[in-house]
Amino acid sequence: MSNIISGKELSKTIRQEVKEEVAKLKEKFNKVPHLVVIIIGEDPASLSYVKAKERACLRAGMKSTLMRKEESITEEELLNLIHELNNDDDVHGILVQLPVPGHIDDNKVINAIKQEKDVDGFHPLNVASVHLGTPGILPATPKGIMTMLKSTNTEIKGKNALVIGRSNIVGKPVAMLLLKEHATVTIAHSRTQNMKELALQADILVAAVGRPNMVTADMVKEGAIVIDVGVNRVDDKLVGDVDFEAVKEKASFITPVPGGVGPMTIASLLQNTIECFLMIEDK
Ligand code: GUN
Repeated sequence: MSNIISGKELSKTIRQEVKEEVAKLKEKFNKVPHLVVIIIGEDPASLSYVKAKERACLRAGMKSTLMRKEESITEEELLNLIHELNNDDDVHGILVQLPVPGHIDDNKVINAIKQEKDVDGFHPLNVASVHLGTPGILPATPKGIMTMLKSTNTEIKGKNALVIGRSNIVGKPVAMLLLKEHATVTIAHSRTQNMKELALQADILVAAVGRPNMVTADMVKEGAIVIDVGVNRVDDKLVGDVDFEAVKEKASFITPVPGGVGPMTIASLLQNTIECFLMIEDK
C-alpha cells in the first residue's frame, strides 16, 4: 500500500511561497514578475493549460498576459513578436505554448526567446545547463518531478531510476536531473525490448510516454517510487501512463493523475518566472 504524492497539495504550498516572494519583490523593485504566454490556434487542451498558467500567475500576485494568435500567423510574425517581447523591459518571462502549427519551426521559436526570459527552460543554453549541471532555468515538468521525489525524503543517490520516454521536454531532462542526484539512470522508449525486466529493477520509475495504463503492476518492483507524467484522455476522463489502482498496492509512493505532476508543472513555472525576474532586475 503506497503513499500518494499529492501534486495538488504540494503545489499549493509552493504557490503560497511564490506569492510571499512576489510580495517581497514588489516592495524591493516596485514591480512584479510579468509572464507573457502566446498560444496559437484553438486546441481546447492547450487553451485550458495556458488558462491554468495565467490563473496561477494572477493568484500569486504576478502579472500575466495571454496573447491568442490565429492559426494563420506566419513564422516571421511570431518571431517579430518574440523579438519585441525580448526587448520589452516590462516582460520577464515568455512562453510559447507547444505544439505550434506545422508551418512554424518550433526550434526557431525556442531559439528566438532570450535566455533570461525562457521560463520553459527550452532554450539550447538552458538545455546545456541541465546537461552540464550548471545553474540555469530547469524545464517545469522535470523540476516539478524532482520536487515531488524530494518531498518523499527518500535518498535518490545510488538508486536505480528508469525513465520511460525520451522527449526533450520531459524524458531527457528528468534523466539528467536524476543523474545529477547520483541515481543510476536508464532511459527506455518505444523501441526498448526488455521493458519489464528494466522496470522490475527500478527503485524510481518515471513514466512519460503518453500511453494509457502502460505501466502495469507486474512491471513494478515492490516499494518503488512511481511518478506518472501521462496525461491521456480516455472516454473523456484523464488517465496516466500507470495503472494507478493496481500499482499503488506495490509502490511505496505514487503520483495520481490528475492532481499529480500537472499542478507541479504550473508551480515550477511560477518559480521559474521569479528566477527570470531576478536575472533581469537584480543584476
Ligand atoms: N506543451 C505541453 N507542455 C508544455 C510546456 O511545458 N511548455 C510549453 N511551452 N508548451 C507545452
